[in-house]
Amino acid sequence: MLILAIESSCDETAVAVVEDGRRVLTDQIASQADMHALYGGVVPEIASRKHVEVIVQLADAALSEAGIGRKDLDAVAVTYAPGLIGAVLVGVNFAKSVAYALGIPLIPVHHVRGHIAANYIAFPELKPPFLALAISGGNTLIVDVRDYTDLQVIGATRDDAAGECFDKAARVLGLPYPGGAPMDALAQQGRGGVYELPRAHVSGSEFDMSFSGLKTAVVNLAHNASQTGKMLDKASLALDFTRAVSDMLVPRAMAAAELCGRSAVVAAGGVAANSIIRADLQRTCAERGYTLYVPPLSLCGDNAAMIGCQGYYEYLAGKRGNTDLNAYATMEITDA
Ligand code: KG4
Repeated sequence: MLILAIESSCDETAVAVVEDGRRVLTDQIASQADMHALYGGVVPEIASRKHVEVIVQLADAALSEAGIGRKDLDAVAVTYAPGLIGAVLVGVNFAKSVAYALGIPLIPVHHVRGHIAANYIAFPELKPPFLALAISGGNTLIVDVRDYTDLQVIGATRDDAAGECFDKAARVLGLPYPGGAPMDALAQQGRGGVYELPRAHVSGSEFDMSFSGLKTAVVNLAHNASQTGKMLDKASLALDFTRAVSDMLVPRAMAAAELCGRSAVVAAGGVAANSIIRADLQRTCAERGYTLYVPPLSLCGDNAAMIGCQGYYEYLAGKRGNTDLNAYATMEITDA
């Protein structure tokens, strides 16, 4: 089964062709990150306009690279939530038009389900059940993946997402947007143990997380340093910050795996590209005898192959979008 997959939830327009869920024939990505970097973050209207400009060309390029024609397509899968609403609407409307014109099924896909599914592409042997740590720019979730379309949220951030926290901390340290990768590179040069940063606990909830206090602590350190003229050891701050983020994520993911009785742990989303978090996951999983799956960097960030993959399993489960399908800025992963 050949699925044309569309992703436009933030600042990447992506179109892929995926066969039977796991074989990626092509994955075209047009990133707008350079443009948003000028403003220090994603400007929603610019994001929507860029999606409108490139999406048709990108779909043509995808078909041509896959070596197939429009008539060969069996279905269209699209991210319909969550994301920047104007951006998601571009992909949804385009996918709807393609499905309508070709008379093929339309499959709505939750973006974070897609991030988790990126692992099915990277690891052909991977099958649910497993415990997923989904950490991206807009979402931070610990999810028990019981089956491809049967997910249960074990923990979630109560405020900022981990990636959002990386981007904000990077910004006050003078690093470009998106800040996660530059923070990662800077942290490699730090000696660490210089700044004491908070690890929040959400009262009454063992698995929920909160990143706003950590973000504020870094902002305050940077502002105090600039007001008092004190030198900031930016590399050590980047390292201490990343360790704090990792300390909030990794032990909770391990405890959740134990609670759910899972021996496989999957990381997903842009923040899963972080070298310190990856190393902490590797170490703790090895200690507990869990098998860890972390996608290659190319599948951590936003892409359409992951949407085509999850779309295939949603299709098998009977999910279809009608011509009145809408886009949603927010949606629980369990409601999709
Ligand atoms: O998954 P993604 O591409 O988009 C969303 O679905 O949100 O994630 C983007 C996020 C950004 O916040 C970016 O700064 C972060 O992932 N990121 C990283 C790294 N690479 C990207 N965060 C920490 N370390 C990295 N190496």
